[in-house]
Amino acid sequence: MRNMLLNGKNITKTYFTGDASKELVVLDRLNFEMESGTIAAISGLSGSGKSTLLHILGSLDRPDSGEIYFKDRMINELNNTERAEFRNKNLGFIFQFHHLMPELTALENVIMPKLIAGKSFAKAKKQAYDILSKLDMEARKDHFPNQLSGGEKQRVAVARALINNPELILADEPTGNIDIKHSEELLQLLFDLNKGFSTSVLIVTHNLEIAKRADKTYNLKDGKLERLK
Ligand SMILES: Nc1ncnc2c1ncn2[C@@H]1O[C@H](COP(=O)(O)OP(=O)(O)O)[C@@H](O)[C@H]1O
Ligand SMILES: [Mg+2]
Repeated sequence: MRNMLLNGKNITKTYFTGDASKELVVLDRLNFEMESGTIAAISGLSGSGKSTLLHILGSLDRPDSGEIYFKDRMINELNNTERAEFRNKNLGFIFQFHHLMPELTALENVIMPKLIAGKSFAKAKKQAYDILSKLDMEARKDHFPNQLSGGEKQRVAVARALINNPELILADEPTGNIDIKHSEELLQLLFDLNKGFSTSVLIVTHNLEIAKRADKTYNLKDGKLERLK
């Protein structure tokens, strides 16, 4: 039986730069469906709107029109507080740039979403430590982001994305800024999470290997998704 996890219907997003004649229709009545427990990959040229789409599907940004459902819940009409709570509870984001907080250590960065979710500090700390260890980062836990390499920062960001056991991970070109070895490890981790815990993954990527291994693959072009696989 099909078990719908994420569903975007008729999503339109237009950016206006300067006067109204310079409108840029980035997403044009776009539809997207994703079933629970699957991995979907979206590719597309630079500037085609991949990040815009991922941010809208992940409730970080709002469409001009259209609806977004997470399971049976319509998320596009939630207010900002509700959206933040929804994201914290259900989604894990991995961005191209790590977006770690510079004034917090690796461990503290990973702890933060757990504290926001209302868990005790002791519990959050233990779990953050466990996840960092799994990612071979225990020796770096007390380092600040500017003391870490690109690959290490991205692993901290991944640990932070995973700490609340999200049902869906949204990854925007997560391997764009790290070396081949660490990018392969990161991808393997995402596939392992999918296999082991049925975590769903929506990944924006130029990497054809990922696109091939995903359950479904799309290309974003002219504001619409075309199915490749
Ligand atoms: N906040 C914004 N204001 C105006 N234009 C934007 C904004 N964000 C993105 N764009 C434009 O929308 C298009 C799609 O951007 P983006 O979603 O980042 O594409 P991609 O991730 O595929 O490279 C690009 O032409 C970009 O310049
Ligand atoms: Mg992008």
